Amino acid sequence: MSTIKVHDKVFTIYLSNADIQERVRTIAETINKDYQGKKPLFIAILNGSFMFAADLFKHLTIATEITFIKLASYKGMKSTGNVITSIGLDAELYGKDLIIIEDIVDTGKTLYNFLPKLKDHQPASLKIAALLHKPDATKFPLTLDYVGFSIPDKFVIGYGLDYDGMGRNLKEIYQVV
Ligand code: XMP
Ligand code: MG
Repeated sequence: MSTIKVHDKVFTIYLSNADIQERVRTIAETINKDYQGKKPLFIAILNGSFMFAADLFKHLTIATEITFIKLASYKGMKSTGNVITSIGLDAELYGKDLIIIEDIVDTGKTLYNFLPKLKDHQPASLKIAALLHKPDATKFPLTLDYVGFSIPDKFVIGYGLDYDGMGRNLKEIYQVV
């Protein structure tokens, strides 16, 4: 079905599962080359990245590890903007080659605020793999090392991404009409 309704909104198909799988496989092959002889630790950010992380991981042939975290943001006591805390980050990060797995970078605020927390642990290196990027919406300076698809500034669901909890199980990515 190319058009679906989730809650009050209508979505049309934007990326087929075949297109997603092909792109994810290509990213994995690039990472296999870039990290030859290394043992990167992937940090997948829940909930949205679980499908991307699983498919990406299946195509990795290098020695590698993965851990899953949740990010929670709250307003600082002063008007210094949002502070991000991570839940479940129990892996040793010192000296590790880290690769963050994120479903989508929109304004970039989430990752921009979270990166300093990771850098505090003094990893050997830190890269970002994002399945989707909305360049027109990104306001925070971020270097995205691996990007699946650059997409317009429209809300999307499917393949792990949700609208109010629904739509994560869709194999394709749908765009709001
Ligand atoms: P920022 O703005 O911090 O946002 O880069 C990143 C987080 O916002 C959510 N997000 C979306 N979720 N469809 C979704 O299902 C979207 O189009 C969308 N845009 C942003 C998502 O949780 C992401 O991690
Ligand atoms: Mg997310």
